Amino acid sequence: MKLLIALASLFLCWAVVLSLSLPRRIVNCDDQEAHEVANIGLQHVNAIHKTGYKFALNAVDNIIVQPVPTGEIIYLELDLLETKCPSLSPTPLENCHVRPVIDQAVEGDCDMKLFKHNGTYTITKANCKSGLDSAENIRRICPDCPPLAPLNNTQVVHAVDVALHKFNGGNNTAFYLLREIGRGKIQSGISNSVHVEFVIAASNCSIDDASSGDATCVEETGPDAHFGACSGSVVKIQGTVDEDVSVQCTIYENQPGIVSQAGAPQVPLAPSQTNVGQPHFHHNLHHPSMGPHSSESNSAEHLSAHAGHAVKRSLTGEPVPPNVPLRPVCPGRKIHF
Ligand SMILES: *[C@@H]1O[C@H](CO)[C@@H](O)[C@H](O)[C@H]1NC(C)=O
Ligand SMILES: *[C@@H]1O[C@H](CO)[C@@H](O)[C@H](O)[C@H]1NC(C)=O
Ligand SMILES: *[C@@H]1O[C@H](CO)[C@@H](O)[C@H](O)[C@H]1NC(C)=O
Ligand SMILES: *[C@@H]1O[C@H](CO)[C@@H](O)[C@H](O)[C@H]1NC(C)=O
Repeated sequence: MKLLIALASLFLCWAVVLSLSLPRRIVNCDDQEAHEVANIGLQHVNAIHKTGYKFALNAVDNIIVQPVPTGEIIYLELDLLETKCPSLSPTPLENCHVRPVIDQAVEGDCDMKLFKHNGTYTITKANCKSGLDSAENIRRICPDCPPLAPLNNTQVVHAVDVALHKFNGGNNTAFYLLREIGRGKIQSGISNSVHVEFVIAASNCSIDDASSGDATCVEETGPDAHFGACSGSVVKIQGTVDEDVSVQCTIYENQPGIVSQAGAPQVPLAPSQTNVGQPHFHHNLHHPSMGPHSSESNSAEHLSAHAGHAVKRSLTGEPVPPNVPLRPVCPGRKIHF
């Protein structure tokens, strides 16, 4: 009897599920609509990824549009590439150059779920991760290009330190603090050169305050809060003690809206990461700041679950004749590489 009731309710559930499952709407990965949704997803990812660099779209790997009675649920798989713009940079993403392969590119993957209702999208899930291109890949096209060094490498940390010191010794009025090390590369040979990229933040001290030695300088958070992006290199000829330090910084306009993360260390040397114990070479997209959505299950399983009972239908909802497979053209083409 119990079994019968169980079977009956199972059947009822199925009936409800089946009556609710509207035909999928076919959207190809390179349709304008797919790219529009992808850019909405990407904006969200860049907005919550507050360390490292902004990401740009490289390809829409998959898109599934499932109409539901209240709107549409969209499952997206995005292939992203790291740009050269720090996350804190006010530069619009369109103007940010993707890092070339010889710089050891960083690729990101995001599984996202969006809900479209009355023309507006809500992101209900974003699950991203990122990884470095292999060092072998760079060596193949550029045998002399050094791979990335860990962000906490002592030579990298030293180079950032002396480069920032040099910058603060220039004729700025504000005294800048290190906010984050973005990248480091070490090229050894007859001379040892260390190239670094880092982000700085204006402190509440003037250069004079700071050089007086007894001032406490913290990141400026008021209307004068602003940041800058620097690249520096420290070259040391073998057998000498002198270092040749060069540094260039771009100071951004005031960004009072972006206050330092509460409780963050004043001088965060390395980003907070999830897999402790491993040296970090880049700022992983899978960051705690991705919020609660990131820990949700991977939407790939939804993609396959939906693909499982995908029925062949035309855009108008009419069943299509058999042996005319109607599937979205995916993945889309790679925009960069
Ligand atoms: C739908 O969007 C339009 C325009 O954005 C708005 O005027 C309308 O109130 C919205 N309707 C609902 C039910 O949210
Ligand atoms: C000082 O600032 C001026 C104007 O911003 C610049 O042209 C000059 O190169 C700076 N000098 C040094 C030593 O950085
Ligand atoms: C900067 O702010 C900190 C904390 O509010 C304060 O202790 C310090 O005196 C300030 N420094 C200057 C130079 O005003
Ligand atoms: C860099 O960080 C990794 C992981 O936290 C750690 O194992 C390693 O000892 C650190 N290296 C240096 C030079 O601090």
